[in-house]
Amino acid sequence: MFSELKPQPADPILGLSVKFKADNNPNKIDLGPGVYKDESGHTPVLDCVKKAEQQRVDNETSKVYLGSAGSALFNEKITELLLGDHQVIGSNRIRTISTPGGTGGLRIAGEFINRCKPGTTIWVSNPTWANHQGVFAAAGLNVKTYPYYDYENKCLDFAGMLDALKEVSTGDAVLLHACCHNPSGMDLNQEQWREVAALANERGFLPVIDIAYQGFGQGLEEDAYGVRLMADNVDEMIICSSCSKNFGLYRDRIGACSIIGKTDIAADIINSALLPVVRVNYSMPAAHGAAIVETILSSGELMTLWHDELKTMRDRIGDMRQLLVNKLIANGVTRDFSFITRQNGMFSFLGIEAEQIQRLQEEFSIYIVGSSRINVAGVSTANVDYLAQSIAKVL
Ligand code: LMR
Repeated sequence: MFSELKPQPADPILGLSVKFKADNNPNKIDLGPGVYKDESGHTPVLDCVKKAEQQRVDNETSKVYLGSAGSALFNEKITELLLGDHQVIGSNRIRTISTPGGTGGLRIAGEFINRCKPGTTIWVSNPTWANHQGVFAAAGLNVKTYPYYDYENKCLDFAGMLDALKEVSTGDAVLLHACCHNPSGMDLNQEQWREVAALANERGFLPVIDIAYQGFGQGLEEDAYGVRLMADNVDEMIICSSCSKNFGLYRDRIGACSIIGKTDIAADIINSALLPVVRVNYSMPAAHGAAIVETILSSGELMTLWHDELKTMRDRIGDMRQLLVNKLIANGVTRDFSFITRQNGMFSFLGIEAEQIQRLQEEFSIYIVGSSRINVAGVSTANVDYLAQSIAKVL
């Protein structure tokens, strides 16, 4: 059975962590996977999470199964976080299930779409998160790309994106990043969202919005603008969300898949068809991450603490963007990297060559994803000089 297997390359993002761990250089810098790091390079457990976990330990009375949709309270609270008081909630047109991380939500969304219409084409941005194409292809979808990032001018190729979306067929799905585009950090502005939402309505494509960094861009409400606007404009859509980054619950694997239907009855039918997708896959999601999130979102005190901690993370990344640009200039780099300060969230494309990325890794122990994506959260006041000097050398 296994003798014909060929060795496969390591994951382009997760594989970097393995190499980084094995590197003995004391100056090594990990700018690979999108995880928040504080000034000392540590990915902390948030205080609000610690407190919610303590409450859970004290109050949990049973570990009986929750069912394929996961925790009803988590599902309700996360829907509110995504949509505020949007009318799709009041009119009972949305159904949310807890999923194993945002990736689990995407995979379930992909399989659900494939059940509705086998082999549906889903359009993803070029570039997109390195795992999107694989997840959707594994779910049976036909993956195509639309232009998104202008590599030369380091900005959005919005005209190219619109032109491509105008050609999308009715019934195709289109994946959009709600905020903090992974990997480019370049987001749609509000006017651009309005144009895309109008097009979704006109062309009749299914928007699938991936929101994995809510709160890391401009703020929790601001980052949900596109999600809410799209829900104003279309009858049906899917939202896949993640609590990995904004609650720092990476390894607890908690996210959600929310589906909006045309009516409350349609939403019930959707739900009845969605749960079997989960059942044959992992049966039901784990409970722990959801319990933490629902505890935080149900408590005024923990919610305030969470907002403060999220703001601290967001502000630190913003500061590091500016600091890195300043240090590159201070180290004699004449190429314009000011675009780094105009991007949102954890990521930025440096736009440097593959050979320079390789040199950064091999000569300087600086780990960057092969697309030249850096995780800005990996930059600190302690390592920024070494980083800027090293980039200056390879340039
Ligand atoms: C990333 O893009 O680095 C993160 O979303 C982590 C992952 O799973 O790839």
